[in-house]
Amino acid sequence: MVEQVMTNPGAIESGGHMLSVRDLAVEFGQDRGSVRALDGISLDLRAGRVLGVVGESGCGKSVTARAILGILDRPGRLVGGRVLLDPGTSAEQNLAALDPNGAALRAVRGGRIGLIFQEPMTALSVHYTVGNQIIEAIRAHKTLSKAAARAATVELLREVGIPRPELRIDAYPFQLSGGLRQRVGIAMALACAPDILIADEPTTALDVTTQAQILALLRRLQRDKGIALMLITHDMGVIAQMADDVAVMYLGRIVEFAPVRRLFAAPRHPYTRALLRSVPDIRAVPRARLATIGGTVPHPGARPTGCAFHPRCQEMIAGRCETTAPSPVPAGLEGASCFHAESVVQEAVV
Ligand SMILES: Nc1ncnc2c1ncn2[C@@H]1O[C@H](COP(=O)(O)OP(=O)(O)OP(=O)(O)O)[C@@H](O)[C@H]1O
Ligand SMILES: [Mg+2]
Repeated sequence: MVEQVMTNPGAIESGGHMLSVRDLAVEFGQDRGSVRALDGISLDLRAGRVLGVVGESGCGKSVTARAILGILDRPGRLVGGRVLLDPGTSAEQNLAALDPNGAALRAVRGGRIGLIFQEPMTALSVHYTVGNQIIEAIRAHKTLSKAAARAATVELLREVGIPRPELRIDAYPFQLSGGLRQRVGIAMALACAPDILIADEPTTALDVTTQAQILALLRRLQRDKGIALMLITHDMGVIAQMADDVAVMYLGRIVEFAPVRRLFAAPRHPYTRALLRSVPDIRAVPRARLATIGGTVPHPGARPTGCAFHPRCQEMIAGRCETTAPSPVPAGLEGASCFHAESVVQEAVV
């Protein structure tokens, strides 16, 4: 019998690929002044699974989410890569090739892919009741009468755990607590029954108790509906609780990818190890914060030579790591972009 150490027993389920991101690259600025914020990001979102994306502030987590959805802030632009919806099927579409303001991509955003933000007011307007906003979201994608959409909205609010939804439907966002507002944000994201959800730090703005409730809600909805969830966080406790697979990002690249149990049991990248250092026992400290790592994340415009983590790395190999970049993690495979990890793999194979 395998001892259940993680809190996500569904991790063994696996599902088909819903979205495959390949070699995504994003730059901010123009010409010689441009800065590469994402450099060769590849990710797979699978039905019924949670992909955790973790890393320190500024490593490119939000830019990844926004690039996938075609909602990059100016002056950001995609300079390479593909975002394949339904990859490998006859319905495959490359979202990166669509006009970000066009009808096709708008139909995907909010239709196939739901979005949950850190601050629900990003998605909600202060001027309309929560009910009217969800009703509009439903009717933007589906032909439904106003009465039918209102009934569906009450059901959605009930599903996300809002008490007395028949009354709350007519509340304005400012009349609700932060926790209830985030529940409305989740209801909004689910309005068109998406099969993919992207949640960018959905609980960071909430107190610890509310965080736990919202994460439990997200996990339940994701499992019940078989949704592929991409969960962005800087909190390894959230990763342990929620993720099936984990992508660790550093300075616009994925430096390690692994199933969650393997990542915690045997992290291969020194950066991952540094992130985990403050979480010695995940069972004892389920909500522990990231370790503080010496130094700060450099600006993408001042990317260190060789391995970008080398100036902060305690395991740096002099004469190698500062001159040569280790190979990237191959798309869809577990591994780490580090010379130490490469030698570990070679030793294991020999
Ligand atoms: N609007 C912008 N203009 C210029 N550069 C930007 C802009 N947005 C992001 N960037 C660049 O992209 C990098 C990654 O930003 P991003 O917001 O994705 O970080 P993050 O990992 O989400 O961090 P956090 O944990 O703080 O949310 C930033 O360090 C910055 O250099
Ligand atoms: Mg962010």
